[in-house]
Amino acid sequence: MSVRRIAGIMVAATLALGLGGPAAAQTPEATIQIDRTSPGPVIEPAIYAQFAEHLGEGIYDGVWVGPDSPIPNTSGYRTDAVEALRRLQVPVVRWPGGCFADDYDWRDGIGDPAKRPVRMNKWWGGVENNRVGTHEFMDLAEMLGAEVYLAANMGSMPPRAMAEWLEYMTEGGKTTLTEERRRNGRNKPWTVKYTGIGNESWGCGGNMRPEYQSDLHNQYATFLRGSTLRAASGEGGTSDHLVEVLMQHSGKHMDAFTLHYYTLPGDWTKKGEALGFNADAWAKTLKTAMGIEVRLDAVSRIMDKHDKDKRVALYVDEWGTWYDTPAGASALWQQNSLRDAMVAALSFNAFHRHTDRVKMANVAQMVNALQSPVLTDGPRMVLTPTYHAFDLYKPFRGATPLQAKLETPRFRTGDIELPAVEVSVARAADGSTQLALVNLDPQRPARVATNLKGDARGRVLTAAAMDAHNTFDKPQAVVPAPYAARAGAKGLVLDMPPKSIVVVSVGKP
Ligand code: AHR
Repeated sequence: MSVRRIAGIMVAATLALGLGGPAAAQTPEATIQIDRTSPGPVIEPAIYAQFAEHLGEGIYDGVWVGPDSPIPNTSGYRTDAVEALRRLQVPVVRWPGGCFADDYDWRDGIGDPAKRPVRMNKWWGGVENNRVGTHEFMDLAEMLGAEVYLAANMGSMPPRAMAEWLEYMTEGGKTTLTEERRRNGRNKPWTVKYTGIGNESWGCGGNMRPEYQSDLHNQYATFLRGSTLRAASGEGGTSDHLVEVLMQHSGKHMDAFTLHYYTLPGDWTKKGEALGFNADAWAKTLKTAMGIEVRLDAVSRIMDKHDKDKRVALYVDEWGTWYDTPAGASALWQQNSLRDAMVAALSFNAFHRHTDRVKMANVAQMVNALQSPVLTDGPRMVLTPTYHAFDLYKPFRGATPLQAKLETPRFRTGDIELPAVEVSVARAADGSTQLALVNLDPQRPARVATNLKGDARGRVLTAAAMDAHNTFDKPQAVVPAPYAARAGAKGLVLDMPPKSIVVVSVGKP
């Protein structure tokens, strides 16, 4: 039996079972020993944040329909989507990109909407009419009660443009820019809690060398106005060198470094299908999703070298699945199945194990693009399994992660071997223990024995098919169901269906 420690979690590999083998009828048992003696830094609510980019039908014909639309809306935003996102208690929204951000001039999106310029959307096709600009985006953030994370242009605008955008938005005094804001309908300054200085500067943000980006970052950060937290455009999943250079030369000019991590069942030329996939693609996707922890470990190690006090946070400001876009669909549109909810749960668990650094994570993207919690089609809206994963994990916000020693059976599909069970445990402010369990095995149930003494109550998300999903005609195909388990003399034992997520509260209240 092998045992390994991953940032506070002990994972012990017991036996690898081949699918359909003689052990198929048995229920493999995993054990979890929870240790309350060394709790980690709290789970920031911002790790459940969203990302909304001007592309495809993410904004236009997505969350925004315009004030004159027959679709019920509030200040142009469709009311059903706003209500659904409010129920999710979205903590932060990152906007307006992505790649779009480094080709965006904020001045295009203020003033009389009828006079706003129409520009090419360089990265995602079509045109941008700028109907949704700064004031409209801030309306959405206010309706959601969310903090704002501006992705600001370092790739194609001077530092003065970035500085002036922040002045326009956040200053209270009388300057030419703040007076312009008032003329445009907003008297009180807004709060911009986070500002991203560029996006993917190694790629669509300017194809820069890390050394050049680092100098540029310092220059832009120097002239940024106000007290916003400054996030450096970071790493895309492979470059330790970029982390080294940015942390060494720009560490003192940033409050956060960023990481993008996408999960593809295939590669960038053939990403794979959102639906109709086989068990191999299921396993490959979950394995890749779990790889986020490898990057979190690697990036954290380099950050630790240059920032021993852990002053600089790590924001995973783009994460999620990315499949082939179906023919005829808008840019980056994809369906969302139970598999995506599993990816979300595995990602949340990984973030919980890195709360010393990871203070924000933004799923890509909020509506109608990549791993969306919300899909819309004309007047119709559907909440995806990913939405329900976010909802299940709500009790973890602000909770304190606890160490857990997990011993789990493993299962094999083709060349891929995975742990059957994955876990996160935390102590909530009300004293209860929150337990999130994932059974990755698409075939077998799992039994999980714990050293917890109380009964468990919560919810389970599962379905009969690996690609089960919600459609506009069947919006309730994958929804959470109530779940309860009683503690026995030896402790709490939880039975999990195959391919399921169980989130329960144990103990008071
Ligand atoms: O989320 C889609 C794109 O992925 C973003 O625009 C970019 O930052 C990343 O490459």
